Amino acid sequence: MSRVPGDAGGADPREGFAAKLIAWQRRHGRHGLPWQGTRDPYRVWLSEVMLQQTQVSTVIGYYGRFLERFPDVAALAAAPLDDVLALWSGLGYYSRARNLHCCAQAVVAGHGGRFPASAAQLAALPGIGRSTAAAIAAFCFGERVAILDGNVKRVLARVLGFGDDLSRAPAVQALWNEASALLPARGVDIYTQGLMDLGATLCTQRRPACLHCPVAAGCVARREGKPERYPVKTRRGVRGRRSSALLWLRQGGRWWLVQRPATGVWAGLWSLPEFDSAEALQAHVAGWRGQGEWLEPFQHALTHFEWTLQALAWTLPARAAQPEALLEGRWFEPAEALALGLPAPIRRLLDGAAGTAA
Ligand code: ADE
Repeated sequence: MSRVPGDAGGADPREGFAAKLIAWQRRHGRHGLPWQGTRDPYRVWLSEVMLQQTQVSTVIGYYGRFLERFPDVAALAAAPLDDVLALWSGLGYYSRARNLHCCAQAVVAGHGGRFPASAAQLAALPGIGRSTAAAIAAFCFGERVAILDGNVKRVLARVLGFGDDLSRAPAVQALWNEASALLPARGVDIYTQGLMDLGATLCTQRRPACLHCPVAAGCVARREGKPERYPVKTRRGVRGRRSSALLWLRQGGRWWLVQRPATGVWAGLWSLPEFDSAEALQAHVAGWRGQGEWLEPFQHALTHFEWTLQALAWTLPARAAQPEALLEGRWFEPAEALALGLPAPIRRLLDGAAGTAA
């Protein structure tokens, strides 16, 4: 099997792996992050969800503001979804915020407001995947369970020289088994943090810092000379392209915003009315009073496509009647609008105009 090392004649990568990682985490890992000094599953869960696909430095501010507004799971469950989305605005991947809210309600309704204390039960809650459930259980309850997020897949694939294609489910299952077999008998919380830290700081996607790595001596990928070759993933998502036009309608200093549908891109957030093309938007406003100006197009990368957006800023005369063919929405004062859950690029666009005559 390709993933069993030994052919290169080096040390067994599994030998002492957990002990070395734990010793390294204690000395060189990350300590003192806002979610580290606690075993409160609410706080740990929140941090883990925020940290999925978002950097620590970005998360820190959001995490503090979120806890200030929603200090416990009951407060989050009782809040209107709009308030949750507003505090999430800018972190992206809004389905995570909706799941967060939904999960808080499930904890309150199904578990009396206390998170269940095992990875298996945590994974049954909405929006908590196997790896996140394991991280919470390891950090809060010391449960001996393996995590396997994107960073950890990379670390383990390299260390073990695991060459199977991770876009295929059986290969991922095999790596889960490896991850479980590597767990230490004790100290699973430090070990888990160590795996995360190693993946985030040394064993990075490009140019891994093998010279500083505590497990380099046994690492198969390093021995082979090209650690970046791992993990092997053949079916990488190919990003498509899409372009849309946005209508930024203004009247008397107010802006017309619409709430996006509950599914799809930016689901449930407030935004500018969207059209499939500049021509479609131009046709929509034909005959309207006032005047428009096309703003500079801008790009926004989503998971599955690269989106080019161009806004038409259209100003209606102060006393003109509201055009009939307007997508369902409402007028907002700029300060009101900026307090809503807005997609980050829309917030940047609107924020640039707040306080001006727009
Ligand atoms: N990424 C995911 N979980 C993390 C954690 N607990 N600390 C740092 N980075 C992480």
